[in-house]
Amino acid sequence: MEQIINLSGVNILQGDKTILKQVNLSVHEAEFVYLIGKTGSGKSSLLKTLYGELQITNGEGIITGYDLKGLKPKEIPFLRRKLGIVFQDFQLLMDRTVIQNLYFVLKATGWTNKTEIHKRAMSVLQLVGIEQKADKMPHTLSGGEQQRVSIARALLNDPKIILADEPTGNLDEETSEEIMQLLVALSKEENTAVLMATHDLQMVKKFPARTLRVENEEILD
Ligand SMILES: Nc1ncnc2c1ncn2[C@@H]1O[C@H](COP(=O)(O)OP(=O)(O)OP(=O)(O)O)[C@@H](O)[C@H]1O
Ligand SMILES: [Mg+2]
Repeated sequence: MEQIINLSGVNILQGDKTILKQVNLSVHEAEFVYLIGKTGSGKSSLLKTLYGELQITNGEGIITGYDLKGLKPKEIPFLRRKLGIVFQDFQLLMDRTVIQNLYFVLKATGWTNKTEIHKRAMSVLQLVGIEQKADKMPHTLSGGEQQRVSIARALLNDPKIILADEPTGNLDEETSEEIMQLLVALSKEENTAVLMATHDLQMVKKFPARTLRVENEEILD
């Protein structure tokens, strides 16, 4: 199985404060992995490191073939094309329709053919089950539907891994379950690995998977 993430002996810092020490982590293709731990323990900081928002200065860190140590600012957009990133608060552009949100990302990541852009946007909307909302404005969608759009957006460039920071944090229990089902299905059926930070231990129990706990500046598998 292909390794998507491989960190070894990496310290994670916010400014000059060490948040996590000597992190070793490997995640493989199609693997679903939870990241749990109390608030302020460093879950988001770990994810930020993985998408190039925080720099690493020691150890070894590889994600989808990119070397996180010495990653140049101009390489970060290329790294992010290989990743799908999903947040608690969806972060959709509210001034345009669902499908225009997807067109925007495709154009920003180098797609130029209008027919191809439309086809790809529709195909990810179908994958997450909301193709009928393509021409709606985001604010007219429920939270769960907006999260599906944000997952669709994450899938546009066929990422090897989705990094999700509390994707169910703003959703009720039933909607959270639907989003979990979608993420689990993506890992099983599309071979997309998922690394998901969460507080929602109920979902961890309902959808059991490998779980990493962040505690005392360490990650326990
Ligand atoms: N931009 C920042 N600048 C300085 N320190 C930060 C910054 N962001 C986070 N921190 C600190 O880093 C530590 C870890 O924060 P982080 O957001 O990674 O935790 P978390 O596990 O994601 O918490 P939560 O469960 O509340 O989302 C905290 O002590 C926090 O205060
Ligand atoms: Mg966090």
